[in-house]
Amino acid sequence: MTNSVENIIDFEKQGAGAVVLKSLFEEQILNEISHTMGQSEFTNHYPEALDYISNYSLDNNIDKYLKLIEDCKKAVSIPIIASINCVSVNEWIEFAAKLQAAGADALELNIHIMPSDPDKDAAFNEKVYFDILAGVLKKVKIPVSVKISAYFSALAETTRKLSWAGARGIVLFNRFYSPDIDINDFELSATHIFSSPEEIYTPLRWVGLLSGKLQCDIAASTGVHDSAGMIKMLLAGAKTVQVVSTVYKNGHGRIAEILTGLEDWMKKHEFEKPSDFIGKLSYRNTINPAAYQRMQFMKNYAGIE
Ligand SMILES: Cc1cc2nc3c(=O)[nH]c(=O)nc-3n(C[C@H](O)[C@H](O)[C@H](O)COP(=O)(O)O)c2cc1C
Repeated sequence: MTNSVENIIDFEKQGAGAVVLKSLFEEQILNEISHTMGQSEFTNHYPEALDYISNYSLDNNIDKYLKLIEDCKKAVSIPIIASINCVSVNEWIEFAAKLQAAGADALELNIHIMPSDPDKDAAFNEKVYFDILAGVLKKVKIPVSVKISAYFSALAETTRKLSWAGARGIVLFNRFYSPDIDINDFELSATHIFSSPEEIYTPLRWVGLLSGKLQCDIAASTGVHDSAGMIKMLLAGAKTVQVVSTVYKNGHGRIAEILTGLEDWMKKHEFEKPSDFIGKLSYRNTINPAAYQRMQFMKNYAGIE
């Protein structure tokens, strides 16, 4: 969706405040570096991914990505945010400077370490996030945000430390491919590519809990399908809201619809600008903060028993 200048021109017309480009994968960058340098480094690091990445890279090579940034910068005036999907610190980090040189206004690091190895503790897993951020910040001056999942044992502490370490934004949350089980074919299958509006609640909780506690902005992602979803995220404390599935499902015009809904709601409630209500119902500001913490349905269960 963000792979063509034409689409991005249209997103700007629809009122998008910025565009985050599709992610380049760390593996793609390393693969290209290895090819250029004639090294077998990549094969040693990612043997299982080599075929897939080699083919993927043919169509999505990083020169095309840099050209996309340059072309977008000529065609639109909204910020163009480059994105890298990364899981480790190595030579790919040098590449961040090329994204900046191509004109990217900011960089989003899409980092996810699945904490599934029982031999690795939380500190070990989390260190990777800080190492990647520190490495990239040494290479670029543009703002860098970190897009994460909810799989942290101390999410509030980690995100606050990421903000102290120089992240200018935290994106809550990435949405992953999730496995499903086919009970007749006894096989693993994939769940839906697109989110549903019900998926808004986990990020909504965490946007509300963390708003005002980080030294950086919060961007909300996952499950925002309409203006009501956007307004909820802003009231919880998000500075920006990202939308993907709803635009795939309903077309580019969905962006304008969401913004019209927001403006109508602001008029109805006599708000002049978003900063008049961003965070109004965050954990810090609401008169009922316990609602953000509550996990168990004691009252409802009591009625059912
Ligand atoms: C087809 C498709 C491609 C995606 N590609 C990327 C990507 O390249 N990088 C990324 O960080 N997230 C990617 N995502 C995840 C979205 O950015 C977003 O985090 C997720 O879809 C949840 O937001 P939504 O509920 O608005 O769809 C992709 C999602 C979809 C549906």
